Amino acid sequence: MTRPTSQPLIVEPVACSTGVLVPPKGYLKRLREICDKHDILLIFDEVITGFGRLGTPFAVDYFDVIPDLVTTAKGLTSGVVPMGAVFASSKIYEAFMNAPENTIELFHGYTYSAHPVACAAALATLDVYAEEGLLTRVAEIADYWEDALHSMKGLPHVIDIRNLGLIGAIELEPIAGAPTKRAFQAFLKAYESNLLIRTTGDIIALSPPLIIEKSQIDEIFGTLANVLKQID
Ligand SMILES: Cc1ncc(COP(=O)(O)O)c(C=O)c1O
Repeated sequence: MTRPTSQPLIVEPVACSTGVLVPPKGYLKRLREICDKHDILLIFDEVITGFGRLGTPFAVDYFDVIPDLVTTAKGLTSGVVPMGAVFASSKIYEAFMNAPENTIELFHGYTYSAHPVACAAALATLDVYAEEGLLTRVAEIADYWEDALHSMKGLPHVIDIRNLGLIGAIELEPIAGAPTKRAFQAFLKAYESNLLIRTTGDIIALSPPLIIEKSQIDEIFGTLANVLKQID
């Protein structure tokens, strides 16, 4: 492998933290082509999209685009113990493995790297994913999730609704001169109603557990509908 001369490009395959921005069709494939052409490393941040969130094990599988590196975290231990992992393509891996014998390959570490408790949690989580088919379960419930999410259309303040896999966003019209205030009101009202939501700007961003049942999806959107009717 030749040494890339440019900075790497890192993207979330679905930009979740910024409010669930689903990429246009062909976008990630095009990014891959551009990166190949200019010898730029492509990195997918799959901290949210990884481990079954889109109904495939990774967004890599969903979009059929192979980056050079994949960063993961949350789903790796089901979020119960802090841990992250980076996957590398064999091209990158080999570049490090071909280092001279007297050097340590991929010299990189933290105090708590590969902490036994985190590794145990990750291994147990991976077993549960395999046993319960959770890395592909979302493919079975994504349509139900989509319909339930889009039933919010027409409710007060709703200006856009976006989804992919088991990710959803309800964008609210901001209160004039007070951006984020309306979504924060929704957050507080939902919390009082026993529903924990995440807001980013004036967007309600949802990404519930992979084991969610249809009745729980109904509960989420039943509660959210009431919340939207109650806030200013
Ligand atoms: C998409 C995305 N990438 C990276 C991170 C950071 O993950 P960590 O704190 O596990 O390193 C987050 C955290 O919320 C995230 O949502």
